[in-house]
Amino acid sequence: MSEERVLIGIIGGSGLYALDNLTVLRTVNPLTPWGHPSAPITIASLPSGTQIAFLARHGHGHTIPPSSVPSRANIAALKSLGVAAIISFSAVGSLREEISPGSFAIPSQIIDRTKGVRKGSFFEDTSVVAHAMFGDPFSSKLTGWLAPKVEKALEEEGKGKKLFTDKTVVCMEGPAFSTRAESVMYRQWGGDLINMSVLPEAKLAREAELSYALICMATDYDSWRPQSDAVTAHDVFQVLHDNSATAKLVLSKILDDLQADLIADGVKESLLQEVGGMKFSIM
Ligand code: ADE
Repeated sequence: MSEERVLIGIIGGSGLYALDNLTVLRTVNPLTPWGHPSAPITIASLPSGTQIAFLARHGHGHTIPPSSVPSRANIAALKSLGVAAIISFSAVGSLREEISPGSFAIPSQIIDRTKGVRKGSFFEDTSVVAHAMFGDPFSSKLTGWLAPKVEKALEEEGKGKKLFTDKTVVCMEGPAFSTRAESVMYRQWGGDLINMSVLPEAKLAREAELSYALICMATDYDSWRPQSDAVTAHDVFQVLHDNSATAKLVLSKILDDLQADLIADGVKESLLQEVGGMKFSIM
């Protein structure tokens, strides 16, 4: 189904700086009250005509470290374009043996280990006291919709990559990776994956009443395995390239369907109802 509105936002993480097989229509760089986004946003169309907005979280040349990503500007800019659902990508470390590097995961929970240095709310520095519901930090409708489609796309790719769902991602501050002791502790806490990027992005998407899901791409085993070397940036970059090729393939297979479902269901009535007024209160 072709539709002029840009309903879908894609945030690309490390290794995913652009999408293939899309016709670039224009590039926009909205100035929001929180500044400009990480990079100009590409508005592109699929062969079917479906339009998407793509934003490179770390800038096009990966110039922005996780702690400095302007998440408020990123989410506000996507919202200002009319985006209703965000699919965000992130390279992650695996805290579980079965989630081998190369695997994909769609988490359902987050543990916050950022250290308070990131501006985490649109209401910071305002006189508004607002509390968004965040017990379920991802849109369960969007993740539920994505999981079977991503799984099928991975199967069709034929590289044996698995999809894991219902996992917990630990978001740490960085830029240094975790110590071995921290990595072991996160496993004990129930963490399955670790990254530096899902927060405050997910919180801000919730405040902006956007449907938000994260697709994680495991690059390494972090530092919890006693017999293995601790993770290095080199390990991560070795797997990134292949993972991003898979991410592009997955997206090429699912975006038309997502757009069609968003329109067919009525954006506000379906995906967004779970993040709407009832889950958000301004006091
Ligand atoms: N991103 C990719 N691998 C990671 C790790 N081990 N820790 C934190 N962020 C990561």
